[in-house]
Amino acid sequence: MDGLAHGAWMDDDMVGALRAALDVGYDRAFAMPGSFYLSEDLLEIERAQLFGREWVCVGRADEIPEPGDYMTYDILGEPVVAVRGEDGAIRALSNVCRHRAMPILEGKGRARRMVCPYHAWTYDTQGQLIGAPQLQGRADFDKRACRLPEFRCEVWQGFVFVTLDPNTPPLAPRLAPLDAIVRNYHLEGMKTRYVTYEVWKTNWKSLIENFMEGYHLSPLHKETLHPINPTSLCRHFPDGDAHFGYFVGFAPDMARERKGHPDLSDEEIDTCVMFAVPPNLVVGGASDYSSFLCIEPLTTNRCRVRLGLFFHGDDWTEEQIERAIRLFHETMEEDKLVLDQLARGLGSRHYTPGPLAPAAYEGCVLDLHRYVARRLLGLLEGLRERA
Ligand SMILES: [Fe+2]
Repeated sequence: MDGLAHGAWMDDDMVGALRAALDVGYDRAFAMPGSFYLSEDLLEIERAQLFGREWVCVGRADEIPEPGDYMTYDILGEPVVAVRGEDGAIRALSNVCRHRAMPILEGKGRARRMVCPYHAWTYDTQGQLIGAPQLQGRADFDKRACRLPEFRCEVWQGFVFVTLDPNTPPLAPRLAPLDAIVRNYHLEGMKTRYVTYEVWKTNWKSLIENFMEGYHLSPLHKETLHPINPTSLCRHFPDGDAHFGYFVGFAPDMARERKGHPDLSDEEIDTCVMFAVPPNLVVGGASDYSSFLCIEPLTTNRCRVRLGLFFHGDDWTEEQIERAIRLFHETMEEDKLVLDQLARGLGSRHYTPGPLAPAAYEGCVLDLHRYVARRLLGLLEGLRERA
């Protein structure tokens, strides 16, 4: 990373703003300067130190319920496949053939045997090579010793997380405080009924900030979300080492079917839990149905996003599901229009970061800055000193 030490990107503004984020209270917090979002060198560090080290969500366990069910996901361009084994366990395997590096599986599906489309090398659901055509005669090749590399995998609240780093501490214990908040919603029992992929023209942090603040719900989503989850009903909750989030109430005058798990209190039924497990997962959790986004940065201004909706119970009509999907996309389109324009503004030489709204509305924006600062500030300051 030596080459990065000389970049003009490490302006005092950005490093100073990150340091300030660690100490400041919510009532004195500020937005970040443009370089925080536009620096390619910072993105390189984030990819290595955050996405390459942390737990990254690749989808939901209920998307692959049966042995042989799989879903693929690229982490930092590294092809990974989560597959349910004959033993019922989910494993995260390298999705790259041990022969000549062809990615083996695409998208989602069911395959009791994973067959490479190039030369038909075949693996079982635990990654063991079981077939390599025409190679039986090679004495120096033992197919029993050949398997796909396996990554660590954890399932938390129905979300499948994978880390490329063998030394990252387990995720679930770090999310214990969040568990206590979402437990009664039983997200793990909800069924994923819709998943799609998009590329958004935005920085990954801008996208997380957008999803995780309720300040814009009423002004930007005037017709779509304001009548359901208005800004005035937002409340922040304390962040943790591996999560942050806020609550937003459902408008009391809104006609709404009160579906949900019997463990939920009336107050929980009337409240959405918006939470992030950085760097790549944000969730809008509710009693009836919930949404999630898995975010992978491609450039400073482009993300691949895996978006989905998951539902409590089985008594949903096609029409109800369609309505939920439509509302989801309408609001996302409104967000996309704003995020698309943000990069222009963030590049302005005349932009000075403004004050954040109170914690209830923009507390999670500071939480994200603190998360990045906790992980990267020491490294950034070290690099700057050497420059
Ligand atoms: Fe929004």
